[in-house]
Amino acid sequence: KKDILDMESLSVEEISLILDTADRMKEISQRPVKKVPTLRGQTIVLFFYEPSTRTRTSFDIAAKRLSADSISISASGSSIVKGETLIDTARNLEAMNADIIVMRHSSSGAPHLLAPLVRSSIINAGDGTHAHPSQALLDMMTVREKKGGLKGLRVAIIGDIAHSRVARSNITGFKKMGADIIAAGPPTMMPKGIESLGTEVTHNIDHAVDGADVIMMLRIQKERQKNYTLSTEREYARFYGLNKKRLENAKKDVLIMHPGPINRGIEISHDLADGSHSVILDQVTNGVAVRMALLYLVVGGGKNGDAD
Ligand code: CP
Repeated sequence: KKDILDMESLSVEEISLILDTADRMKEISQRPVKKVPTLRGQTIVLFFYEPSTRTRTSFDIAAKRLSADSISISASGSSIVKGETLIDTARNLEAMNADIIVMRHSSSGAPHLLAPLVRSSIINAGDGTHAHPSQALLDMMTVREKKGGLKGLRVAIIGDIAHSRVARSNITGFKKMGADIIAAGPPTMMPKGIESLGTEVTHNIDHAVDGADVIMMLRIQKERQKNYTLSTEREYARFYGLNKKRLENAKKDVLIMHPGPINRGIEISHDLADGSHSVILDQVTNGVAVRMALLYLVVGGGKNGDAD
């Protein structure tokens, strides 16, 4: 069986196959009737221990566009509240013949723990501060679509890197595909040893923005911060928020990205979030296509070029 756990486990060839398949899935999503029978008879369980708008909805839409049966459960609505363990929960879903379990969990490594224990394929939809591979893939798809490729691009990732599974997966994924990464953020939000992933590190946002082809802004993860106050927020916006003035040093055709949810007026100003450089909603659109590609490839599609 195949699992999608993190970007480290995917080769350059596999990433390229996923992105090429996602391009074809996007074409299906743009048809007047945007549904194909490709995954008819497959059962997909969306199992989310943490809140989600984009990831859960887009996996659900992706499953339905491919005619799979999808069911969504949250930790608060399941028997986890009665003390059932993660492993027992997953084994029960497996006993119902779930082909794929898409899973989000607050603990780093939870999907890696489950993957060898169940027959169902596991797709990691975000685990703690560790990995969010489908987000990195949709980000790569968006940049490839807008820039024609990834090799040699300068990608600035700015914000709360320490708590960001999106940053980790994007650093690994973009590096593998030949982009150069600079990570920027306050010292308290920069994890030790992040350089080992092959990224340049700075605490100066203006340096990160200078000459960037892509600027990826990350939100402050208030729920994972200790001692978070309104004055932290104001100070953060002043020193690390992206605004029009700061953007002057970036390339004229720079892309502004954000995985969402956005803290408007904190890490990014309203005008830039909604402005002409922003591809934030393109990321969301491409999220459905990438997740269609992942569901399709995980159950063994792609061998005969038979996406539809
Ligand atoms: N980008 C992202 O993972 O958004 P959600 O938390 O809404 O799924």
